[in-house]
Amino acid sequence: MAGSGVELIDRAEAAARLPEFGALLTLALAAQGRARAPYSSFHVGAAILGGSGASFPGCNVESASYGATVCAERAAVVGAVAGGETTIRACVVVTPTPEPSSPCGICRQFLAEFGPDVLVFAASSLSDSVYVARIGDLLPLSFDSRNLDDAISHVDAP
Ligand code: THU
Repeated sequence: MAGSGVELIDRAEAAARLPEFGALLTLALAAQGRARAPYSSFHVGAAILGGSGASFPGCNVESASYGATVCAERAAVVGAVAGGETTIRACVVVTPTPEPSSPCGICRQFLAEFGPDVLVFAASSLSDSVYVARIGDLLPLSFDSRNLDDAISHVDAP
């Protein structure tokens, strides 16, 4: 996850930067314990901090049709929106890797829907390490609604 705009910190520093971090981490760790991952055995938990201040958990849910699997981050975003949130301030994700794992590309795109300033904290359930970055730094030049607005319609000649 190293790269421009990405910092490696610890849990105490994460809490200093985002007062809600501790509560979000607790929520994400509990969700990690509920992950359904019979195929990969890779249990992921997440928590979203909505614009209202409320928080929402998510975990990965795997399917025998592997492509139908939903990641923890997207599960948490769906829960937040279903719970009434229209904006998202932060996402905490927890993986069982000593070095925190960064959100996959699909989850980055999904989080970027809520603007480039969403803060992503990638934490570990095995260590104190935390990566923090703005989603705009994790996914520069993301596809967004402006691309759709910019489209010039055309009809192919028969
Ligand atoms: N997974 C997540 O939940 N979040 C990510 O950002 C990456 C991967 C899940 C999907 C799958 O259930 C398992 O981890 C292994 O890829």
